[in-house]
Amino acid sequence: QVPIWLDCDTGHDDAFAVLLSAQHPAAKLLGISTVYGNAPLERTTENTRAILKAIGREDVPVFPGAQRPLSREAAHAPDIHGETGLDGTTFLPEPTVPARTDMSAVDAMIQFISSQPRGCVWIVAVACLTNIAMLFAKRGDLVNHIAGLSIMGGAIGDRFTNAPMGKTKGGGERFGNWTPWAEFNIYIDPEAADIIFSNPALAAKTTLITLDLTHQFLATPEIQYGFLGIGQSWNSEPTMRSVTPLRRLFFEILTFFAKTYAEQFGLVAGPPNHDPLAVAIVLVPQFFGCNALGECSGDQGERFHVKIITDGAHSSSGDITSDPSQCGRTVATLLPPGYEGVRIPRGLNTKELW
Ligand code: BDR
Ligand code: CA
Repeated sequence: QVPIWLDCDTGHDDAFAVLLSAQHPAAKLLGISTVYGNAPLERTTENTRAILKAIGREDVPVFPGAQRPLSREAAHAPDIHGETGLDGTTFLPEPTVPARTDMSAVDAMIQFISSQPRGCVWIVAVACLTNIAMLFAKRGDLVNHIAGLSIMGGAIGDRFTNAPMGKTKGGGERFGNWTPWAEFNIYIDPEAADIIFSNPALAAKTTLITLDLTHQFLATPEIQYGFLGIGQSWNSEPTMRSVTPLRRLFFEILTFFAKTYAEQFGLVAGPPNHDPLAVAIVLVPQFFGCNALGECSGDQGERFHVKIITDGAHSSSGDITSDPSQCGRTVATLLPPGYEGVRIPRGLNTKELW
């Protein structure tokens, strides 16, 4: 089993990262730190505990972390995740086990990670990088102790030309999902992201799951209804009543996420299920074109220098030609073979992964 520490801001797609890391037989989930992001910290922490309760894993300790970025005001994502951070379901149970406050999230990470043998633990970060930056600011030596750091974040466009790949609803060009330049997790605390990516030793141990990859992993209606486990008969009310609350919970999480993605991004095929991919690359690397040990060759083995743009104010919307601020942008430059840098997987076998 791979020991995993999960850092999240639960969130609709984070819920699947919690599910995967807590229930996959190849994973040993040591604990979870929470952070502001999709909603304020209090909410993301409660959502995390509720998901753990729903899946019968309240034994996993949850430590609340940062409430705000290192040097900016906190931003949240109610348009995508609702005011609670996990709107749209009536099947979320009341958590019973309290969050741990006997030590800080950073100290908990240090303690739980250090107690594992060297070279084994993966840190999986599926939110802004405030907690993770604070961890390595306090204990830089832990980079030598971990097996790797897997991050969901960033938008690099076309990996060779750095050209934008996404479109705005109006047809303009964009890289990111929060601003035309930036992906949400990097955007909300670019200074924290910069601490990670400008540290060469840490960058060399980092795998980055960017939007171009997560947009290959859409929760289509077929996938959404598949969570009910009753084939095509989902539209019959008596059959619906026979579906377990757990299945309905994850079904409703996906359908709410699908609704907001369609409204906000005009993406009607289904929402990208971003966060579980950062867990999956650790547990089932073969679905990403790597071997079972996580060793990647050819295109999958590519390494990048990643620079975070931290200049400027946070900006609004539009497309890249109308938005002057690139704050939160991730600029990835392909390195020659043999150089150390960030691994950015580019393909995955969607069918097998679902
Ligand atoms: C990321 O932003 C958050 O809203 C999601 O949970 C995911 O981690 C996608 O850009
Ligand atoms: Ca998240």
